[in-house]
Amino acid sequence: MAYKFYIEVYGCQMNVYDASRIADIMSTTGFIRTMEASEADILIFYTCNIREKAVNKLFSRIGALKKQKTTVVAVGGCVAQGEGEAIFKRNNINISFGSQMYHELPQYVNSVIENKADKILSLNLNHDTNEQGAKFECLPKRQTSSYSEFVTIQEGCNNFCTYCVVPYTRGCEYSRPVADVLSEIKGLLASGTKEIILIGQNVNSYDGEAPYINIGQTRGTWSLDRLILEISNLNGLKRLRYTTSHPKDLSINLMKVHSQIPVLTPFVHVPVQSGNDRILRIMNRKHTALEYVEKLQQFKAICPTIQFSSDFIVGFPTETEDEFYDTIRLAQRVKYTTSYSFKYSRRKDTPADKMEGQIPEDIKENRLKILQTSLLKDQINHNKAIIGTTQEVLFDKAGKKKSQYIGKNIYLQSVIVESDDNLIGNFRNVFIESARENCVFGKLM
Ligand code: 5AD
Ligand code: SF4
Repeated sequence: MAYKFYIEVYGCQMNVYDASRIADIMSTTGFIRTMEASEADILIFYTCNIREKAVNKLFSRIGALKKQKTTVVAVGGCVAQGEGEAIFKRNNINISFGSQMYHELPQYVNSVIENKADKILSLNLNHDTNEQGAKFECLPKRQTSSYSEFVTIQEGCNNFCTYCVVPYTRGCEYSRPVADVLSEIKGLLASGTKEIILIGQNVNSYDGEAPYINIGQTRGTWSLDRLILEISNLNGLKRLRYTTSHPKDLSINLMKVHSQIPVLTPFVHVPVQSGNDRILRIMNRKHTALEYVEKLQQFKAICPTIQFSSDFIVGFPTETEDEFYDTIRLAQRVKYTTSYSFKYSRRKDTPADKMEGQIPEDIKENRLKILQTSLLKDQINHNKAIIGTTQEVLFDKAGKKKSQYIGKNIYLQSVIVESDDNLIGNFRNVFIESARENCVFGKLM
């Protein structure tokens, strides 16, 4: 009998990519994917623990599902890595696997099914003798593809921002070899993918040559801009994006490729987190507010069409009201197209969790509201600015109303049109007629 597996994924784009690779390896080792949790013999949860809210959501979901008669429950990714042995105290979990170990999941599942083991813990993150990237060598070719696909080119982070769990859950920086990345993208383009999104926790630190980089080791001679130039020569590619960039690794060459490569969207996600120098310093962000703003100005001078999005954290330990308003001022100066903002969330074993001067929840809440109101004004202005223009849109979902379709332009603005034809997966030109806070409306050209 073939066992059915179901995957639920939480968190970032890299988790979406990892979950699709888990599906690839499960499907090529005799398991059958189901999209219905109620039909599954194997429940796989691929998880995020960047903020407390994400973890709570996960455990309540596992709690709700475990009441079914399920053979195997496997939890993978950042929560698995973060919780260690303790995870087995919860919810009848059988397998807990880190994000560098998912290529071995079919083996673990078989061991549980065959009653050889009931609890399997497989975490592998060691900054000295890490095997980052080993999984990529074991994965089968991509089994499915869509019009838009993520491709991991870099994983892990050496930056150790004091609030962040990623360096502990994903490990140190690793760049996939150029040949591997190109071969995966060629395969996707040959099967009809039109948009590629290169992903990495710190994507612009990509150096593609040293397969096993440890902290302190010198970088190879590859770089994200060189990789983009290579990818842009491949047949069939219509749109190329990358995320997430660290401001300190935003090189002039990377800025230049934006003005040279038509398929590369003129839109970059460059998280700043705070606009105050003291807070940036205790966050260990490695740049000042002015250095950040000047970098974006330099980018604009090199590529005048470029626009930016960012992440912000409010209520970092000891942040004063004045320091918070520095963040508002920075955002008002940059005028981001879109932004993501969060209340600081205490994460176990990170330096910021041990800092004195934790900010009360109600103050964080209030600061978040003020920041989001300010960010939204810029977002609306960006939306209004494209009224009367024609935008090339890649449609990715149906809208709430009948015959409505929603897609994204090059700046990731949501564009809504009406059409009797199914537009999903297609590029179409749209004339923009009106704008709202979170989207614009237009008609097909
Ligand atoms: N609390 C709140 N937000 C966080 N982020 C990362 N760690 C935390 C935390 N402990 C945010 C940062 C990052 C984004 C992915 O998540 O803004 O850029
Ligand atoms: Fe986390 Fe900072 Fe690394 Fe981003 S750069 S993943 S916020 S440690």
